[in-house]
Formats: sequence, structure tokens, C-alpha cells
Amino acid sequence: MNAPTNSRSMTDEMLDELLRLLAVWRVELGLFALPTGLGVWLYVRFGLFFAIAAPVALVTTVLCVGPLRRFLGRLLHRSSVRRHLEAAFHALPGVLSEKRPHIVKITRTTFGDRVELVLWRGTSIDDLVKAEAVLAASLGVRQVRCVANSAKRNLVSLTITRDDPFGVEALRCPLLHMQRTCLWDAVPVGVNEEGEIVTLSLPERNVLLGGEPGAGKSVALSLLVAAAALDPEVDLCLFDGKVVELSAWSACARVFVGHDVQLAITVLEELTVEMDDRYDELLRRGVRKVTRAEGLRLRVVVIDELALYVAGTDKKSAQRFAELLRDLVARGRAAGIIVLAATQKPSTDIVPSTLRDLFGFRWALRCATRDASDTVLGAGWASEGFSASNLNSARRGVGLLLHEGGVPVQLRAFHLNDDDVRALAERARQLRLGK
Ligand SMILES: Nc1ncnc2c1ncn2[C@@H]1O[C@H](COP(=O)(O)OP(=O)(O)OP(=O)(O)O)[C@@H](O)[C@H]1O
Ligand SMILES: [Mg+2]
Repeated sequence: MNAPTNSRSMTDEMLDELLRLLAVWRVELGLFALPTGLGVWLYVRFGLFFAIAAPVALVTTVLCVGPLRRFLGRLLHRSSVRRHLEAAFHALPGVLSEKRPHIVKITRTTFGDRVELVLWRGTSIDDLVKAEAVLAASLGVRQVRCVANSAKRNLVSLTITRDDPFGVEALRCPLLHMQRTCLWDAVPVGVNEEGEIVTLSLPERNVLLGGEPGAGKSVALSLLVAAAALDPEVDLCLFDGKVVELSAWSACARVFVGHDVQLAITVLEELTVEMDDRYDELLRRGVRKVTRAEGLRLRVVVIDELALYVAGTDKKSAQRFAELLRDLVARGRAAGIIVLAATQKPSTDIVPSTLRDLFGFRWALRCATRDASDTVLGAGWASEGFSASNLNSARRGVGLLLHEGGVPVQLRAFHLNDDDVRALAERARQLRLGK
């Protein structure tokens, strides 16, 4: 009684497998069928010569014409990625193997591929995130990372990284080729996992950088200082707890403060007065904020080693500095004042949370722990899969940047060595002298 049912189910299974194979190899089969079908048709209608000559001419044309060849290459590459990914999903343990994500789009990137997926009901991004390592092993690639669309959690962007985008010793900064900048435009700061340049738009923003010692905070900060210095319409105020990190830029700055906390307080008091004057000016003009069209200069306040000023041994001075800076960060944006601050760990015992929480953009270089990473990026990001403690400590300058997109972006900052800084600072100084 059971025999017919079994043989039937076996036939069904074989048919399913055949259909699956046809679906999986559809692009290759289609590409094979086209010249073969053409050859058969020509043989029937015109004889052997045309049956051989025409498909050969077709294949030769496709291979010789660059755009056609590239199109074919992309088609075959996408088909291969789709095939391997579907097989990797199929081999996953648990629910994802049954309800495999639907592949919507595959785009080749400089270092791998980006795949847009739709999740089926009953599965979530968490299942995929847990499977990242298994997927990477199945595909035989360096890394697989999944990020859910913040509006629609069933849409997932999966980044496959084959080559190491951050493998080079240091990435050369595009600012080195620029004669001058305009700080109203976005600043190139590094390269993401897909090899694309990441930019940061500074007007109306304040940036907090954090990370373990030697992670690359000062280098990242110097990129932003360079971009500001190369715009002669920008006023720079530099605070450098170590003195040596920003001193190269002192000739381009309106004021440079070292480890003298009293002087730092005086400068911040002056900046606060200027901020109030600027609001009076905006009131007279009948506008609510400084824009590119208003023609008012942007002011960039840069603080490296913030801890020295807000958590120094003289408690009263530290408190006064923190209060003044909090006011500047809170009210300065619309007045065209941009604050960029770096510190190793901005935990509340060092940077008061009333000040830290006001920074809109966060840049976490490598951190020792998930907690330290959350302190820089904001609570909860580590559990969402964004922890700067997972970054490779051997790759200095790698970090997570939380800015416009609303989701941290992994990037490696461009590197400016001492010679680069000297050259850029001199170019900026000449620009400011009007030469
Ligand atoms: N983006 C980068 N690419 C390549 N190397 C980098 C990069 N950023 C930093 N480095 C290397 O790491 C070193 C330390 O960087 P940096 O001084 O910026 O660290 P830091 O986080 O400011 O450390 P600290 O907390 O001690 O001030 C640099 O001298 C440089 O050699
Ligand atoms: Mg530093």
C-alpha cells in the first residue's frame, strides 16, 4: 500500500530538485540556450555553415565588445553570488534554512558584494546576525555583516567582504590633493567596508570621538581640523591637553590653548559672549540660524584630551569648564559654532552626561569593552551588533561613526602623518594670509 506513495514522493522530490537546479542555474542555462537555440534554428533553415558561423559570431561579439562583456560578467557574478548564498542559507541550522531570506538585489562593491534581502514571517535580523559567522564560512569570505532597514525590519542589507578593505598600512587622505575646502560641504573622513568614501557634514553638528589609547582619535580629529583649516572662512579655536597633537595647526588658529585650564576657561567665556552676540545679530537679521547664505563665519572649537579640562584635579575649574562647554554645545549649533571633542572614555565620572548626551554625532574608535563602546556611541548600540570592541586592534583608525544615516558605519579613517599635517597646515596658513 505504501509503495506507490513512497515512489510518488520520491518522484516529487526528484522533480523539486530538478526545478531547484534549473532555477539556480537559470542565468547560465539561458546564456547557453541562446546561441545553441539559434544554431539549431539556423541549421534547420539554412544549413550547417550558418548554424556554426552565427553563434560563433554572436559569442565573439559579446566577448570583444567591452560594455557587453562587462554586462555578461556582472550577470554571471550576480548569479554565482545568488547561488552560493542560497546554498549557504539552505545549510543554516534552524528557522532560516526553512524560511530562506528572499534575495532582491545584488550589487558588486570594491571589496565584495552588497545583497538586499527580504525576510519571511517568523524570522528576524537577529537570526541572521547570529548566523553571520556560519554564512561567512559557507561562502569562504572574510566577513558577512547584516544591517536591518531602520524603518522596515524585514528588509536587510547584507555586506559580503572578500578582500580586506582596511588591509593597507594607511589610507591617503583626499584633502592632500585639495587646495582649499568649504566647510559647508561634507568632509571626507575615511573609507567604509565597501571601499566607498565616508563623508561627515559638520555645520550644525557637534562630534564626540572616543576610543582606547592609540586607537586613532587624534588622527581622526586632525582630519576634521585640516578640513576646517583649509577653509579660510572658518575660525579655529584649538584646545589640546597634550599640546603636541594640534600644535601644528596653531598658526591657522585664532586661539590655541594647551594644558592651562584657566586659560581654557577664559577662552570658552569669550566664545560664549561671541555666541550671544551672534544670536543678537541673527535676531536683527530676522533669521534663526547661520546658513551658508548668511555669510557669517563658522567657528570650529576642537578639544583633544577633553578629560584634562572636565575631569582635572582642580574640581572647581573642571566644573566651570564643563558648564561653559555644555552651554556652547547646547546653544552653539544655530550660531555656527561646531564643537569637536575627543577623549579616551567619555563615561559619566569623566564627562558629565549632561554634556556628553548633547553631542549629535559620535565616532567610536576601537574600545576595550562593549560598555566603553556604548559610552561613546550611546546605550544599546552594542546589543544591536555595533560594538567598537569587536574592531581589529591591529588596524588603527578603524571605528564606528554614528552620523546622518542613523546607524553606525564601520570605517577606517584616512591617515595624516606628521609630514602631511605640516604640509596641510602650511597650505592653510598661506590661504589665511590671502596668498
Ligand atoms: N587612520 C589611521 N590609519 C593608520 N594609522 C593610524 C590611523 N590613526 C592612527 N594611526 C596610528 O596610530 C597611532 C596613534 O594614533 P592617535 O595618536 O590618533 O591615537 P589616540 O587615540 O589619539 O591615542 P591617545 O588616546 O593616546 O591620545 C598614530 O600615531 C598612527 O601611527
Ligand atoms: Mg590622542
